Amino acid sequence: MIVTAALPYANGSIHLGHMLEHIQSDIWARYQKLIGNTCYFICADDTHGTPVMLKAEQMQITPEALIATMQAEHMQDFADFQVQFDHYHSTHSPENKTIAQAIYQRLKEKGHIQTKVIEQLFDPEKQMFLPDRFVKGTCPKCHAPDQYGDNCEVCGQTYTPADMINPVSVVSGATPIIKESEHYFFDLPAFESMLESWIQSGTLQPEIANKMQEWFAQGLKPWDISRDAPYFGFEIPDAKDKYFYVWLDAPIGYMSSFKALCNRDNLDFDAFWQADSTTELYHFIGKDIVYFHSLFWPAVLQGADLRQPTNVFVHGYITVNGTKMSKSKGTFVLARTYLEHLDPAYLRYYYASKLSSKIADIDLNLEDLQQRINADLVGKLINIASRTSGFIHKKFNGQLRDTDTMPELFVHCVAKQSEISALYEQREFSKAMREIMTLADQTNAYIAEQAPWHLAKQTETLSQAHAVCSVALNIFKVLVTYLQPVLPHLADQVATFLKVPLTWENVPKWLGQHTIEPFKPLMQRIESEQIEAIIAASKQTTQAPKPVTEELAPSDMEPILDTIAFDDFAKLDLRIVRIAKAEHVPDANKLLKLTLDLGKESKQVFAGIKSAYQPEHLEGKLTVMVANLAPRKMRFGVSEGMVLAAGPGGEDLWILEPHQGAQPGMRVK
Ligand code: MSP
Ligand code: ZN
Repeated sequence: MIVTAALPYANGSIHLGHMLEHIQSDIWARYQKLIGNTCYFICADDTHGTPVMLKAEQMQITPEALIATMQAEHMQDFADFQVQFDHYHSTHSPENKTIAQAIYQRLKEKGHIQTKVIEQLFDPEKQMFLPDRFVKGTCPKCHAPDQYGDNCEVCGQTYTPADMINPVSVVSGATPIIKESEHYFFDLPAFESMLESWIQSGTLQPEIANKMQEWFAQGLKPWDISRDAPYFGFEIPDAKDKYFYVWLDAPIGYMSSFKALCNRDNLDFDAFWQADSTTELYHFIGKDIVYFHSLFWPAVLQGADLRQPTNVFVHGYITVNGTKMSKSKGTFVLARTYLEHLDPAYLRYYYASKLSSKIADIDLNLEDLQQRINADLVGKLINIASRTSGFIHKKFNGQLRDTDTMPELFVHCVAKQSEISALYEQREFSKAMREIMTLADQTNAYIAEQAPWHLAKQTETLSQAHAVCSVALNIFKVLVTYLQPVLPHLADQVATFLKVPLTWENVPKWLGQHTIEPFKPLMQRIESEQIEAIIAASKQTTQAPKPVTEELAPSDMEPILDTIAFDDFAKLDLRIVRIAKAEHVPDANKLLKLTLDLGKESKQVFAGIKSAYQPEHLEGKLTVMVANLAPRKMRFGVSEGMVLAAGPGGEDLWILEPHQGAQPGMRVK
């Protein structure tokens, strides 16, 4: 099988958000190898596109020099986090160029490529077409200034840059003009039925299958795969000054990285990629790039008569201490900053203890990480060896003891092997970690109960002390083997300490008259200062503002993948209110200030419904509000809740109007 992690962009450093994916996929690939599957774990840098081109220009170096530096940095970060790729390549490679062009030719021969003249904003100073994210201007709907060319962060409206008021090129500051250009399109709609059958197959995560259904309902559109010069990428054969859009050759990077591995290790490339291949192909990706991997990529492969991915495994986003990673809060933590203060094994274990097969976001709380590591790894796992191995050396010459019948607790731990195996296979890592820690708990309880430190004091119970310590260390071997995909470095150290290779087959094997090395400390507790130092250092890394990324799928297509539990929904305290007063807010384009009567109290709410209502028409009406929303300070004052309204926007927006018998303050059920 081939396992891939998404190819990181070459225009920025690796941060702890990226690491979630690379750790998740590394654990899974290591697990596959551990149980004896032939598995190739592949990645590469994603190097093409306007952002890389412009960044190199800013730095006054060539794009080639920029991507070489970034790739070296990325590879070092991954290696230091014990992420072990079988090959790490670049999309700016001869292999990728050859395969991308061959795939394009194949698609063209089969009639899947069409051309169309489109209008786009053009920077007359810089002489280049502008991707949506490189235009800023005033939102045509709510008039918020300084918005990107694809959607408004204030009111959420999506539009094209040409619709904006006063658009400006981010590159030169010039006012863009509208210019025509011929673009190349891939005929995505032709692949609808093939993609449908993939959904039906039942292999996809349910959230993804649902999202794809929604996309189908909206209708698939041809995909624009060309960009005009100047562009850093591969030229489209037989088209002058046209380049492949970065997202065309990026997933092909999976193939070319594997191709380079085949060249190195003499493997049969075609056996893995031909349409009837019996090998498996798994892509680990984040929820923001589902569109590319569940629609474009399978369609391109099919169109080029190549195999389909076996599955796409989607994970959620990392938040740090409850919120989006933020530079000013010091929670935008680069992989390197973390490594300067903490052992990578801690993050690997922490992420494993939170990961599941679901697409929910995952919160990295650094204090929680500290507690988890100190409690689980140091307090439970390592403790098993540190409190028993001393006796083996002091009293028994470093030798473990044989046993006639397998001790019950050891048998119990070994019996969990297939369950833990299944949990890894299903990517339910958090459940696997919980199982393993339960075994560690039981083992510690056993040691405490047997108290080998007492038994070792008297000659007549000495051999019993020997037995207890041998049980503990044999279980330690089992548990560390279970953890090997997550903690490979620890597993290596333990293999040296126990003088035995930690293999999956060896799990049931009892180490009898077997000599071990003296115990050396394997892991340190995390001190609070280390956590504080990471945050402090992250505040200091004066990175350039968030790199502008290449345009993605339109934001209204971005999957809404996180579900909330019923309990979360039930937390909403919805109340009937009477709109006692409604007023215009000077300078606000979309807000009205409402004074809401809840019977016993009144609340002030700023509601974005100005486009649909005159204040005088609202006064006296009953409506429904979310009454327990935390107050929020806005530019115009504090807003103490929200009123419910629905509609596509603009004039078509309606507040909820309950029947007249409703009383202000009543709870809505
Ligand atoms: N270059 C594209 C992928 C091309 S794959 C053919 C890209 N690069 S990226 O650097 O922006 O992201 C790489 C991966 O990291 C993506 O799967 C993305 O979802 C993931 N993450 C980036 N930030 C993340 C978090 N904050 N949390 C979890 N994953 C995140 O997209
Ligand atoms: Zn807006």
